[in-house]
Amino acid sequence: MKKKLRIAVLISGRGSNLQAIIDSIEKEEIEAEIAIVISNKADASGLVRAEKHGLKTLFVDPERFATREKYEGEIAANLKKEGVELVCLAGYMLLVTPYFVNQFRNRIINIHPALLPSFPGVGSQKKAINYGVKISGVTVHFVDEGCDTGPIILQEPVKVYDDDTEETLTGRILEKEHQVYSKAISLFAQGKLQVEGRRVRILP
Ligand code: GAR
Repeated sequence: MKKKLRIAVLISGRGSNLQAIIDSIEKEEIEAEIAIVISNKADASGLVRAEKHGLKTLFVDPERFATREKYEGEIAANLKKEGVELVCLAGYMLLVTPYFVNQFRNRIINIHPALLPSFPGVGSQKKAINYGVKISGVTVHFVDEGCDTGPIILQEPVKVYDDDTEETLTGRILEKEHQVYSKAISLFAQGKLQVEGRRVRILP
């Protein structure tokens, strides 16, 4: 039997994207297994979701470490111990440092609730509403040293309607996130993503 890709999911809160990944794996839509779920918040409800599915979880408190690199060193050690080959940031609200990026170059991916390079950082849905764009969406990208600047794997548009509020747009974007993240992880698991500079080629 082919060895399954071992992935880690890093979260900070609700974990609805984590749930979508778990569901896709259980439906065998992604050839991967979740080796560990790590949170920087003790009360992240995503940890409860993971435990319900019998997954290994870990809370690493950034406050316990003198520097961000030392905090990430603890995370990296756990990822290596678990044989993790792909790190999925799913609502993980800390910026990763160049140290961490170098440990897992082209093996960290993130989901962002906008069409990058528009509206990076936090509060993207509100920024999209305030700017008045007619189309926003979802981006899954490799993580590099910048904030939401890494090579783009997949993007999907979401229309913005005149009567949208931050909440309604966030909800529709989130639905799309759940589909797109699983698709991107599946492509990675099948070895179909080839990074060439800024461009990610999707192999047939
Ligand atoms: C998602 O909308 C994700 O795209 C966003 O946080 C939410 C987490 O939801 N991430 C960012 O804004 C990263 N800059 P979830 O915990 O239910 O998956």
